[in-house]
Amino acid sequence: IDTPLAQAVEHPNQNKMQAISKEVTVLYGSQTGNAQGLAKKAASKLEEKDFQVTVSSMSDFKPNNLKKVKNLLILVSTHGEGDPPDNALSFHEFLHGRRAPKLEDLHFSVLSLGDSSYEFFCETGKQFDQRLEELGGTRLYPRFDCDLDFDEPAAEWLEGVLSSLTEVQGGTEAQSGNASPDVPTTTQVAESVYSRTNPFKAEVLENLNINGRGSNKETRHLELSLEGSGLSFKPGDSLGVYPENDPELVQMLIETLNWSPEQTVTINKQGDIRSLKEALISYYEITVLTKPLLQKVADLSKHEDLHALLAKGNEEQLKAYIDGRDLLDLVRDFGPWGSSAQEFVSILRKMPSRLYSIASSLTSNPDEVHLTIGAVRYDAHGRERKGVASILCAERIQPGDTLPVYIQHNDNFALPENPETPIIMVGPGTGVAPFRSFMQEREEIGAEGKSWMFFGDQHFVTDFLYQTEWQQWLKDGVLTKMDVAFSRDTDEKVYVQHRMLEQSQELFAWLQEGAVVYICGDEKNMAHDVHNTLIEIIEKEGSMSREEAENYLAEMQQQKRYQRDVY
Ligand code: 2AM
Repeated sequence: IDTPLAQAVEHPNQNKMQAISKEVTVLYGSQTGNAQGLAKKAASKLEEKDFQVTVSSMSDFKPNNLKKVKNLLILVSTHGEGDPPDNALSFHEFLHGRRAPKLEDLHFSVLSLGDSSYEFFCETGKQFDQRLEELGGTRLYPRFDCDLDFDEPAAEWLEGVLSSLTEVQGGTEAQSGNASPDVPTTTQVAESVYSRTNPFKAEVLENLNINGRGSNKETRHLELSLEGSGLSFKPGDSLGVYPENDPELVQMLIETLNWSPEQTVTINKQGDIRSLKEALISYYEITVLTKPLLQKVADLSKHEDLHALLAKGNEEQLKAYIDGRDLLDLVRDFGPWGSSAQEFVSILRKMPSRLYSIASSLTSNPDEVHLTIGAVRYDAHGRERKGVASILCAERIQPGDTLPVYIQHNDNFALPENPETPIIMVGPGTGVAPFRSFMQEREEIGAEGKSWMFFGDQHFVTDFLYQTEWQQWLKDGVLTKMDVAFSRDTDEKVYVQHRMLEQSQELFAWLQEGAVVYICGDEKNMAHDVHNTLIEIIEKEGSMSREEAENYLAEMQQQKRYQRDVY
């Protein structure tokens, strides 16, 4: 039996460790909902072990309370070029600013999510981890940096955190056996058995190109059946889809490597076996190169040029090489090499799922989920490149086929609880998707709140996505106002933000009335420009300085009145 004394003998750090309490604060910073989902999972595991858990988004956490926190778990993703997610911005800034408190009594651990194909991999998590240490905190358990395939490392991190917390609790637990009855028990909502790690095979009911003939674009409208899955979602949530690679690309890859498509490989730790062809089609990512992957390939290859590319000082060339190339380029340029097919697949990343903003409401389409997917095709390095999931949907999926899917909940993008709250939606291109869901929902529940949609695309005739539905909602009063910007119908480009600016007075009046602003779609150009336009409008119509206008928008973001689903 573990007595406090035995613990003391076993743990040289006993004195410090004994200070650890049963209270754990779990904070997440999440853009697409991955970190949020993991944080909720961590919280419920901790509650099972009788910890008193507070779980919240970083943006909902009052920084002044940080001093009182004993144990802090941070789960945070990194966005774009090393940026914190929207709902981590204010907390990140606070912690790195002059007003950050000393945290000598704090025990913490960080789980960071990221994508190793980006230069600043897991940057935000690294910054939090380093900063908490600088402020005097003690690491409960080392930081884990997870790539796209985060399920296993995240579970391992959580196990590690749990055992550090319970280990140091061992002594005190025996004495404070009466602590448990006070711990609030969480009532679990009945959850579907299907999840990210156990996707549901959803039957495709409909698959249409919703651009007109002659358009530069191809946008697929997909309707999938969720019947029998027990899955549910709310407007603003996303659907995770596990795609398959293009069989032609896989065949070229195998031929270039001089292997047989039928030879078998082991695809996971459990020892499941597949043919090489099947493994490369369904289980591995072959269309993205990452620096860690190239380093592993270099261990298999004697090719001097590859080693030169990875040498110190050549970072810029390496970045330029990786950009837009895939595994077939890599094998053509530096292979084939002397490794076995097994060694080769073992260094690849697992096929990541793709997240799509859901375009339907469950209330109005029970047991169904609709998606709006832009087909991605472009030329790069002398070859036509195709988006994995979008082209699977555009070229190889028909009604009757199935797709492995799961629901990704996202608190960062949701209709206001009060159906009377006015909403402003900005969603050019496929960014229209979640707003179709919003409108279906508001129609179904008879919401009274005003709504204003800004849509844009290249041409009115071919690219007005869901045109008749929007017109019907306008007519029925479900939608109050709609403004469209077709960028290539006129000599001069008009974008959604131009339409917003034209009506700045009315738009600002809506903001003053408490409207929630949503932006969905392209991040790099559109969302950035729309953001600046909002600041411009607030500055002008509110007679504010630039800084005051920025603060106004930041305040809106804090109040969840400015929400973005951008990609
Ligand atoms: P373009 O392709 O003619 O430049 C949906 O893709 C719509 O968004 C298109 O009309 C596209 O215009 C437009 N778009 C491109 N860049 C944009 C930006 N920075 N801000 C707003 N809309 C943009």
